[in-house]
Amino acid sequence: MMDESANLEGVRAAGGIEAERERYVRQFVNRFLSMEGVGVMLLDSDFHIVEVSDMIVSLCGLPRADIVSKHAELWFDEVGLKPHPFDRSLLEGRTFRSKVLNWKQDKQLHTLMIDGENLMEGETRTGAFVLFRDVSHRMALEEQVRRSDRLKTIGQIAAGTAHEIRNPLTAIKGFMQLLSKSLRDRDMEKEYDYVGIVLSELDRVNDLVSEFLLLSRPKELRQASMKVGGVLQEILPMIRNEALLHNVTVIYLPRPELPPILADKELLKQVFLNLGKNAIEAMDGGGTLIIRECGISEETNRITVEFKDTGPGIPSEALDKVFDPFFTTKPQGTGLGLSVCQRIVDDLGGSIEVASDGDGALFIVGLPCY
Ligand SMILES: Nc1ncnc2c1ncn2[C@@H]1O[C@H](COP(=O)(O)OP(=O)(O)O)[C@@H](O)[C@H]1O
Ligand SMILES: [Mg+2]
Repeated sequence: MMDESANLEGVRAAGGIEAERERYVRQFVNRFLSMEGVGVMLLDSDFHIVEVSDMIVSLCGLPRADIVSKHAELWFDEVGLKPHPFDRSLLEGRTFRSKVLNWKQDKQLHTLMIDGENLMEGETRTGAFVLFRDVSHRMALEEQVRRSDRLKTIGQIAAGTAHEIRNPLTAIKGFMQLLSKSLRDRDMEKEYDYVGIVLSELDRVNDLVSEFLLLSRPKELRQASMKVGGVLQEILPMIRNEALLHNVTVIYLPRPELPPILADKELLKQVFLNLGKNAIEAMDGGGTLIIRECGISEETNRITVEFKDTGPGIPSEALDKVFDPFFTTKPQGTGLGLSVCQRIVDDLGGSIEVASDGDGALFIVGLPCY
């Protein structure tokens, strides 16, 4: 008798623990389904969607009712996930892990990492689930680290070789100029033209070497207190000249009341010149470049200067590449201009950002107040 009632107690207690466990699991599932950084999609044995978590709903911007009961493959096609995550592996009962795909939504590119897994009862597949993790932020951080490593390496190479290249170049150029003069004196027109081409190509190499030299960290910054407007005023005539040649209007919106910044004037000029040059090159058929001094960002205590153009803008897949050394879309480009800008701005303790909304490109330079 005693034994039996003790047993009953045991069963009851076990039932209680079981119920409690179920409650915890349910709580966890509910919480999991509402998490922001992780998405989950539950599929039945025919790969129709049975349930999706909040993250998926907000990411694809469709009401839940429009997602549930759709075939997963169809849904992936509709929302334009690329590359398509359903290579047949899941359908054939295999799992897949850490597949990376990109999802563009509201002009923002998300990088998702997804895993797919089957739910099995013995040998039979009863369904499957797909886990989505938004790793855009982590990818951006990793890219930043990679970029600054790359810049460092290039800087070291540049420092070691650029001077060695430039010295012979100066000699070659000098002798070519002499040659050019005597060819002209002898009316050797064809040869004179050839030498002209050599000279202009030499100039290109020289420009490249100059950019290389700027990439190598300067020995010491010559920092001083200055007004950002003063620096812009000094380079505006150059930008205006260049703009005139390309039928571009330049609008400068100063803010003389802004406090001074701490910067190296020559290097900062280089940054603004590069941004101006890029904008003008982007608007070859004509357009408007607006250079605007903005207020101070309270968060960072930086003054910002914007370069906004009305050119074709930058496609979203290129946005995170434009600061990479050697990234260029121009036949004669070096792809070093923006790397140089970033390097300089980094050295000055500032920031440089890019945005493009299909209505031209916008570069924002932040510089620390003095
Ligand atoms: N204002 C702009 N509008 C559109 N594209 C731009 C702009 N500025 C930069 N880019 C893009 O960024 C690339 C890299 O620029 P940069 O580093 O200055 O090198 P380069 O000018 O030699 O190509 C350009 O080739 C272009 O594709
Ligand atoms: Mg450039």
